[in-house]
Formats: sequence, C-alpha cells, structure tokens
Amino acid sequence: MRKNIMVVCGSSREFSNSALLAKALCDGAQSNDNFVETIYLSRKNIKPCIGCNYCRKKSKGKCFQSDDMQGLYALVEKSDIIVLASPLYFLTVSAQIKTFIDRLYCKHHAGTIVEKKGVLLSTSGGPGSDMIIEYFEALCKLLNWENIGVITQGGMGRNAELREDKLKEAYALGENL
Ligand SMILES: Cc1cc2nc3c(=O)[nH]c(=O)nc-3n(C[C@H](O)[C@H](O)[C@H](O)COP(=O)(O)O)c2cc1C
Repeated sequence: MRKNIMVVCGSSREFSNSALLAKALCDGAQSNDNFVETIYLSRKNIKPCIGCNYCRKKSKGKCFQSDDMQGLYALVEKSDIIVLASPLYFLTVSAQIKTFIDRLYCKHHAGTIVEKKGVLLSTSGGPGSDMIIEYFEALCKLLNWENIGVITQGGMGRNAELREDKLKEAYALGENL
C-alpha cells in the first residue's frame, strides 16, 4: 500500500550529509511509489515551544504561534512514517530537529500523532553517540511510534563522504517502508 512519508531534515548546511542519507531513503521509498515529502527545517521559520499550555487548556490541540509549523501539523498527522535526519550535535539531535519535536507537544497531547512509524538518520564527526539513538528510542516510546530503523555514520569530518554501504542501506530501508 502506498505510504505517506514525511522526511524532516535538521541540518542547515548546504551540502548536508544527513540530508544526503535522507535523499537515498527518499529515492528508495519513491521507487516503490510511496508519497514522500521532504522538509528542510533550515528553510522554515519555526519558533520554540514556550510551554504556555494554551494548546491543552484552551484550543483543543492548536498551537497559538503563527509560524511555519502551522503548515506542517497536517503533514505530520497524515504521515504514516516520520523520518528524522539530523546531524549529531553535542551528543544528540540538532536544535532544529528538537524545536520541531517540541512543537509537536500540542498534537501529542491532543492524541492526533499516535501509532506512526519512525526512522532516525544521523551523521557525526566523531565515532557517533549512543545517546542520540537512546533519545530516539525513548521518543518513539513516548509518542507511541514504532521505531523501524536507525542508520548512523560517524567519521564525517571535513571532506569525508558518506559510505556507499550506508547510502545503500538508506535506499533499501526506503524501498522496504
Ligand atoms: C554544533 C555542532 C556540534 C557537533 N557535535 C558533535 C558531537 O557531539 N559529536 C560528533 O561526533 N560530531 C559532532 N559534530 C559534527 C557533526 O555531527 C558532523 O559534521 C555531521 O556529519 C554534520 O551533519 P550534516 O552534514 O548533515 O550537517 C558537531 C558539529 C556541530 C556544528
């Protein structure tokens, strides 16, 4: 069955390796006729959640902030699979990804983003970090999403290129979503 896949890229670098990994996954997913939408958070104006709880107390799950996140809520809600593509920043996801996740607070409490499937793609300069994987696993549990795949690649220092086997792994994961 054709799936709706939302790919959220959290690097602001022009030639982002985590976005390249995401592209390989998208190519695989599209080869199977899935519907894929990729969001580059660096091109969006998304403000942090301010924890006002207006969404819980007053508006039945609607965030009062008027910014680009408003255009993404419907996409998150209709997607079967959410792919988070993040550089490893100080042991975990980038601020762009974290801000996006925080802004899901309203929908999480409204119960409209449950039972999805989640994928984490991440690249790092050093050997990598278990913390980002642990964070993603815990996030999936909290949101009631099924973790269906994690692909990481370390050693992405200056001029380093993504390994062919990692790109193939991402393509295959996309193909089998
Ligand atoms: C603010 C910042 C924090 C970083 N923190 C880490 C880190 O904790 N561990 C690590 O291995 N690499 C770290 N890196 C390196 C990036 O994870 C690495 O360059 C990554 O491949 C970038 O992904 P991108 O090409 O998608 O932007 C950091 C880079 C920046 C700019």
